[in-house]
Amino acid sequence: MNGQQLIAADLLAAAVSAAAWLATAIAVASGRRRVAVAAAIAAVVSTAARVAIVIALAGHGWWFVQDKVTLALPLLGLAAVTAGLTALRRGISQAVVPLFMTGYAAICGLLFQFLWGYPASPAQITASLALVGAATAVTWWLRQPAAQRAAVLAGVGAAVLGLIAAALGFLPGDPAPAAHPHHTVSVADLRGPVEPAPGGTVKRYALTARQAEITLASGQKVAAWTFDGQVPGPALTASVGDLVEVTLTNLDIADGVTLHWHGYDVRNGEDGAPGVTQDEVAPGGTFVYRFRADQVGTYWYHTHQVSDRGVRLGLYGNLIVRPRSASVGTDLVLPVHTFDGVLAIGTHDGMDSRPVPAGEPVRLRLINTDNTPHRFTLSGSAFRVVAADGNDLNGPTEVRDVALRVAAGARYDIAFTMPSGPVALRIDDGPVGVALSGGASGEHQDTSAWPELDLTSYGTPASWGGLDARPDKDFALVLDRGLSIVDGKPMYAHTVNGGAYPNIPEQIVREGDLVAFTVVNRGFETHPWHLHGHRVLVLAKDGKPVTGSPLLLDTFDVRPGEVWRVAFRASNPGVWMNHCHNLTHADQGMALHLSYEGVVTPFHGAHGG
Ligand code: C2O
Ligand code: CU
Repeated sequence: MNGQQLIAADLLAAAVSAAAWLATAIAVASGRRRVAVAAAIAAVVSTAARVAIVIALAGHGWWFVQDKVTLALPLLGLAAVTAGLTALRRGISQAVVPLFMTGYAAICGLLFQFLWGYPASPAQITASLALVGAATAVTWWLRQPAAQRAAVLAGVGAAVLGLIAAALGFLPGDPAPAAHPHHTVSVADLRGPVEPAPGGTVKRYALTARQAEITLASGQKVAAWTFDGQVPGPALTASVGDLVEVTLTNLDIADGVTLHWHGYDVRNGEDGAPGVTQDEVAPGGTFVYRFRADQVGTYWYHTHQVSDRGVRLGLYGNLIVRPRSASVGTDLVLPVHTFDGVLAIGTHDGMDSRPVPAGEPVRLRLINTDNTPHRFTLSGSAFRVVAADGNDLNGPTEVRDVALRVAAGARYDIAFTMPSGPVALRIDDGPVGVALSGGASGEHQDTSAWPELDLTSYGTPASWGGLDARPDKDFALVLDRGLSIVDGKPMYAHTVNGGAYPNIPEQIVREGDLVAFTVVNRGFETHPWHLHGHRVLVLAKDGKPVTGSPLLLDTFDVRPGEVWRVAFRASNPGVWMNHCHNLTHADQGMALHLSYEGVVTPFHGAHGG
């Protein structure tokens, strides 16, 4: 079983054992012996199964089992042993209260997993013990012939204790104070260059954020938030060495707007993270961004202010940087987005056909601007994946009849030579895509059974540039759900290491550090992890080292049960957002900061997720 299956099996065993222990207690209390025996067998078997599953899960990493090993299983085991001993010594009918206690312990473990998860803190463990104790005391009291004051007091006292401890358990801790040296630099001073590189030019763009109604190719109208009245926003292009200068104006987006250059390692002051690198641009306001186009490739820009809503409604566009000597051929930028439930490439919510002469080189730039992954298939031609997240892959081999799963926020470039027959790119094996041909759009080939291409073993190995050496800073990011405070409100949040933004301690690095992240997904949803300002080298997935081309990414999908290990050199000082690019998750807490020692921000308040 893989990690995700073990997590699911553990949950199932936990639920079955809780139900079985309670059923045993109820059957014994009501004198139904045969039911009691059957339920007890189910309880013992499911509990033993759970122990075996947790042992297997521990093989995937301590993060997956810490709460179970430190709390859920010892509590359950202690209660079950108490019940068993009582039944042996004094008869099963005397074991009703310990049996109920075992049921409560099982439920508590289950609740714990949903409410808190990793890491189980002392406050949470205390709260759990107190709650089980209180429930047991109340059960015992209810079974006494006459009311007993002491028991009432004990029960109530334990319950109050439990509630207090529970409250403490999900109050955010103080983020660790940053050990900033005396010499500090403000993010507001970490601005981009104002001159292009020798030979480059200044590419000036002006983008105005405003509400507009847009029309999809099918004729459907969508109320959108746009740059310049169009979705995607104006395409920004540059050649290597150019200086890109973008003046953002907000006309009427009341929540404010910023521009974030997704995947582009701009200087921190140009990064567009509201409340971190700048204040959001309010209606009537402007902000000028500048950065040097020194990374070739496929990127995109989007608002980072109320990013979940803003990007969904259309505040995004393409950013493409090409080498100085422009290549010939067909070069299509294909940003996929869901408008109001309608899937589209650009504004084409059906099949877009493009004539391409046979023999011509074709490059397709796939961009996923949604919150969840999309599956791309190309039928009619073999192809190579030449770049991921703007980074060229080394020695990409030709593949066919495979699907590409592009994470939310991620980009893949694919290349091939146009054959004489029709070629179709489709999204999610459905009717939306691009047909390339001399005219005929070709039959819809069923691609739904095609396997996914795994980029961790694709292409040709090359040097990792020492990024797999022993890191100076080594961080774990354990992704889960739990009760937490987000923007001052208690919420069933998306959490990192048990906390939610902005109450997750920032990760502090020093310029020049080799930094490693282990990103662990304990939950049931995919988390496309995205660090600003740096591209990371994937070292291993689920403990298996990357065997193909070095894989440099800015966004990678950590699926349920997966463990990713990535590394990067801390070479771009600033305070950087580090978050899930399912922007709904980021909005619900799944974001934190990577901060360089000595860098401080004068901006506060806005929610940067
Ligand atoms: Cu594309 Cu912080 O995001
Ligand atoms: Cu997520």
